[in-house]
Amino acid sequence: MSDLYGVIHSRRDVRAEFTGGDIAPGVLEKVLNAAHAAPSVGMSQPWDFILIRDRALRETFHAHVRDERAVFAAGLTGAEAERFARIKIDGVLESTLSVVVTYDPSRGGPAVLGRHAIADAGLYSVCLAIQNLWLAATAEDLGVGWVSFYREPFVADLLNIPPGIRPVAWLCLGPVSHLQEVPDLERHGWRSRAPLVDALHHDRW
Ligand SMILES: Cc1cc2nc3c(=O)[nH]c(=O)nc-3n(C[C@H](O)[C@H](O)[C@H](O)COP(=O)(O)O)c2cc1C
Repeated sequence: MSDLYGVIHSRRDVRAEFTGGDIAPGVLEKVLNAAHAAPSVGMSQPWDFILIRDRALRETFHAHVRDERAVFAAGLTGAEAERFARIKIDGVLESTLSVVVTYDPSRGGPAVLGRHAIADAGLYSVCLAIQNLWLAATAEDLGVGWVSFYREPFVADLLNIPPGIRPVAWLCLGPVSHLQEVPDLERHGWRSRAPLVDALHHDRW
């Protein structure tokens, strides 16, 4: 798939459709290069990518995700708890590899042009790299699933991430059987995509 709007609208957060198959030679590099081409505040490029294929590391992370899922589930009751019980929240073990994207606030500093008033601008830059990765993967017929059911210190410790550098996303990546047309959360009746008009304002909020 190469049409930009087609890629944007067919991109899905993938949990259950990973095949675990190999990624064709050169394709992972193309996807990572797309992530690395993202805009960043003051050209700081504050991201790093940790590629994780090691099964034991992924199993350790997966057990942590299971615990954090239970923490979230404990705050739910009634129909909401039942709905959540049916929702898969990760494909850590089924996907081909994981990519952890980190944020280094010291990169390009101390004078990061454009970040003096908005400290979060560095974090926004990392999210743009993640979105580039997600769209490029979709264009290459790969799936991506973002997993955020983790505590940052746990992941930092597991992956030897240096102090001060934050893990922003644990991404599951790899070939998929297909991409769902409707997002999982919508199919399970958790939440639906709101119409654009609900988010649109003119001149003032
Ligand atoms: C910051 C962020 C964190 C997310 N964390 C999770 C997660 O832990 N588990 C999961 O299954 N999906 C996660 N998602 C995926 C969202 O649930 C998904 O993007 C949303 O339901 C819309 O579906 P779509 O991406 O298929 O359009 C995350 C997405 C974002 C942007």
